[in-house]
Amino acid sequence: MSTAAFDPDERPSRPDGRRGGSLRMVRPRRAAPSEAARVTRAEINLAHVRHNLHELRACMAADAAAGATPAEVWPVIKADGYGHGASALGTTLERAGADGLCVALLEEGIELRQAGVRCPVLVMGGYYGRYRDGLEALVEHDLTPVVYDPAQLERLSTATRYLHRERGRTGAPPSLGVHLKIDTGMGRLGLRSETLDPFLDALHRHPELRLDALMTHFACADDPDEEVTRAQLAAFDRATERVKAAGFQPKIRHASNSAACLRFPEAQLSFVRPGIAAIGVHPCPDAPSRGAREANLRPAMRVLSEVVALRDLKKGESIGYGHSWTASRPTRIATIPMGYADGLDRALSNCGEVLIAGRRAPIAGTVSMDLTMIDVTDIPDVAVRDEVVVLGSQKGRLGEDVITAYEMAQTIGRIPWECLTGISRRVPRYYRHP
Ligand SMILES: Cc1ncc(COP(=O)(O)O)c(C=O)c1O
Repeated sequence: MSTAAFDPDERPSRPDGRRGGSLRMVRPRRAAPSEAARVTRAEINLAHVRHNLHELRACMAADAAAGATPAEVWPVIKADGYGHGASALGTTLERAGADGLCVALLEEGIELRQAGVRCPVLVMGGYYGRYRDGLEALVEHDLTPVVYDPAQLERLSTATRYLHRERGRTGAPPSLGVHLKIDTGMGRLGLRSETLDPFLDALHRHPELRLDALMTHFACADDPDEEVTRAQLAAFDRATERVKAAGFQPKIRHASNSAACLRFPEAQLSFVRPGIAAIGVHPCPDAPSRGAREANLRPAMRVLSEVVALRDLKKGESIGYGHSWTASRPTRIATIPMGYADGLDRALSNCGEVLIAGRRAPIAGTVSMDLTMIDVTDIPDVAVRDEVVVLGSQKGRLGEDVITAYEMAQTIGRIPWECLTGISRRVPRYYRHP
């Protein structure tokens, strides 16, 4: 079995002597509203985050009433809460009753603890660094590790024993609960069928570790064709039987991302792990669902800017890098201070739209790093300082409309996850209804 990802050398700490509690994280700093002079901003509606959690819980309850296993909801807020701000999302979701939270990285788990989150936090990526300080930080911050490699077991039990001794305790250390990841077809992380038995043998040799849960991840839960998800679920059931036959009794099983938790009641198991749905974006609005209740989700993020300049072009004049757009009529162009360095994808050049006064206006020319031009010829009386909505809804003097992350993604062949996590750190996040 491969142990390539893990350093077999059990160094007590980093060469510079730092230890778990002092693990230093280098975090790129996001623009803070208090320091922001710029008008471009993301507005995060925390009331919508709470609403989405309640909706998801209501969906799980409806499916349970129809015969599914009653499932808890553990929202996934990795990648800075999908660009919404992990600390704000974590504390909001915990207060609103989330049973637990999931992140990808150790650093993300520590950030939640530092923000005051107390509920269980699952670190799904399973990578805790080359040195023992990462493992110590994991244990000290009471984060729940995902494991899938015998080398991780060795290192985790060593860290557990070491910390126990460091704290001056004697006797056996209290056991550390772990979640075991099974690869049922995603093919990126987790134990494959042929590696399960040797792993379980190794687990028997580590009394410091307690197998609390089994998990897997679906590859095609948003596909209208249910076949792959059904096959993965069947493989997960078979793996569960083998784990039990080896003498373990994991009480928890989880598998479902947003698409699976909304579409496959039989896959909800002990808890679901919705990410995109928790921030109000349906992962697959067109795929059929067998859920007992439809989730009424509310997008939590709006991205806004303002008109900072206006100019009138004659027919035939071209604008922007490469002069990729030429006026086919006398045209009024508005410039907004948001570009691809802010997360407005350059692929939206000459095909994206924004909202001004509640009405759509097309992006004209190439999106540049800091600025984008909008053709506002058909919107009367546009003025400097008018609000421009790049993502989300707007109600204005000419009407009401919405540009969803789904629509934006479809326009340029991306997925909503990319559009949302792509809003960069130079865009300050303003929180509503904290
Ligand atoms: C293991 C795991 N579970 C759950 C999720 C949540 O996925 P989604 O945002 O589609 O709900 C992810 C995200 O990619 C994931 O990697």
